[in-house]
Amino acid sequence: YDRLKVSERDDETLDLDARLRAMNGPLLAWYEEHARILPWRENPEGYRVWISEIMLQQTRVEAVKPYFERFLEALPDVASLASVEDDRLMKLWEGLGYYKLPGIGSYTAGAVSSIAFGHPVPAVDGNVLRVISRVTASREDILKASTKKWMETHLRGTMPKDRASHFNQGLIEIGAIVCVPNGAPHSAECPLESI
Ligand code: ADE
Repeated sequence: YDRLKVSERDDETLDLDARLRAMNGPLLAWYEEHARILPWRENPEGYRVWISEIMLQQTRVEAVKPYFERFLEALPDVASLASVEDDRLMKLWEGLGYYKLPGIGSYTAGAVSSIAFGHPVPAVDGNVLRVISRVTASREDILKASTKKWMETHLRGTMPKDRASHFNQGLIEIGAIVCVPNGAPHSAECPLESI
């Protein structure tokens, strides 16, 4: 595979798979201590994880919480969702901020497979793109499909196969609360600072 150029020394490469593997232990330990308590993390079965991931694709966690609770109360399983009237469904969804769902891509498929079913597949969203860029000291554009593809391929090989749910959620969590999307990263609280 191609080795990414790293930012400190453009003319050198690191063993990036080894760097990725070095994350696993500290990441899991940190997540298991610091994971936020979120409604979809209780009883993470397929339907709940699916609905939460669709809602979280375009809306912030704090905004999703009340929608998620209300939606699950009204439509507790896939059978109730399948048979609900469109008008009622629109009312439950209204206000989430988007009306055309983007569909299931590699991120959502990976998130549901790993969080609900424990399958050892990566779930690379915007949060994870930021975290992995820093861990690998990558200068690649995170908006490029090839950057995401590189990360998916390599994480698939290096992630702990029996801890996929916590591994993926740990990366998402670091991206959301440490390697924040706007402003300086909170590196003092980052479990990957010293790997
Ligand atoms: N954003 C996307 N998926 C998430 C999850 N499972 N927990 C928190 N934030 C998320």
